Amino acid sequence: MLTSLEPLLEGKRMVICAGSGGVGKTTTAAAVALGLAERGLKVAVVTIDPARRLATALGLDTLGNEPHRVPVEAEGELWAMMLDAKRTFDELIEWHAPDERTRDAVLSNRIYQELSNALAGSQEYMAMEKLYELSQEGRYDLLVLDTPPTRNALDFLDAPKKLAAFIDSRTLQLFTTPGMLGLKVLGRGSGVALSVLKRATGIDLLEDMSAFFASFGSMTEGFRERAEHVNALLADSRSAFVLVTSPRADAVDEAGWFHHRLLDAGLPFAGVVANRVRPAAPRGDPAAELASLLGDDALARKVARTFEEERRLAAQDRRNLADLKKRLGRKPMIEVPHLDDDVHDLDGLRRMDEYLFG
Ligand SMILES: Nc1ncnc2c1ncn2[C@@H]1O[C@H](COP(=O)(O)OP(=O)(O)O)[C@@H](O)[C@H]1O
Ligand SMILES: [Mg+2]
Repeated sequence: MLTSLEPLLEGKRMVICAGSGGVGKTTTAAAVALGLAERGLKVAVVTIDPARRLATALGLDTLGNEPHRVPVEAEGELWAMMLDAKRTFDELIEWHAPDERTRDAVLSNRIYQELSNALAGSQEYMAMEKLYELSQEGRYDLLVLDTPPTRNALDFLDAPKKLAAFIDSRTLQLFTTPGMLGLKVLGRGSGVALSVLKRATGIDLLEDMSAFFASFGSMTEGFRERAEHVNALLADSRSAFVLVTSPRADAVDEAGWFHHRLLDAGLPFAGVVANRVRPAAPRGDPAAELASLLGDDALARKVARTFEEERRLAAQDRRNLADLKKRLGRKPMIEVPHLDDDVHDLDGLRRMDEYLFG
């Protein structure tokens, strides 16, 4: 049985830690990045929404949108950044705008500001964007990407496609095709649409809108191309998806589906990290021993009940993970126990290292 991520990540340029919410994606991404930096690589980890104390430990108290170096005693280097989706979107506009006037027109536009804030809420696409940008720069041996805290682990996989679809959508075409637009001369139908928009968003700025779509239109080709590059990057054989899950039934179930989705999409799935696994409880009946130890039968029974409950949960964990293992076929599953303390600093990450890298 494989007990280390190391051979799975050998020669990779990019690792994507995916999984459902709260299972330990951010923690695992940071631990993998630190582990490989300590093994001599120059690694950048892109985190999203790290727990406060972990952010502090990585020096991420202030949002920058570029990686900065984490001072660690390591053969390699650890760089970390926290993704600020809104800022990335602005940079994207700056990148694609054909000239300064277009850029400023879009950035200062109220519709854009509303829209980009809404898009920033769904961080999926922005995470992909940043990843692509960093990989293009080529400054690191390895990029480790944490994924957004979506309820559904599959969402972010669709992000580049969704954006491409949005760009191709009739609505956007209608607004951006020269001559077709002229919001001023729009028919009655669109008047209805706009009043719905107004009710939903409180925005009633026809002027703003036509200006926005006019400048946005000249950029859509760049966006579409980027979405395609991002897709190609994810599918590259030097990328690796690591699926993080907890042993809980719902998380395990989602991990199973996600694994299928990756295979269907032809994306490079490396393996599963089962995180926060409860240690197997010792066999036997502790009641008698507890009674003599505690000198109090009632208390001993209470403790024994808690112990039984823990043992039952640990057994349930084992069954859930065994099911998942069957669904994974030959792909490995690496277990990290539930550690006594929250993992919130570099020492905590190093404790995970032991399990992640065997
Ligand atoms: N193996 C572990 N043992 C104990 N606590 C853990 C472990 N892995 C993660 N945690 C804690 O669980 C919480 C959620 O982890 P996080 O990485 O933020 O999850 P996600 O990014 O998937 O939402 C954090 O407080 C983290 O310190
Ligand atoms: Mg997270």
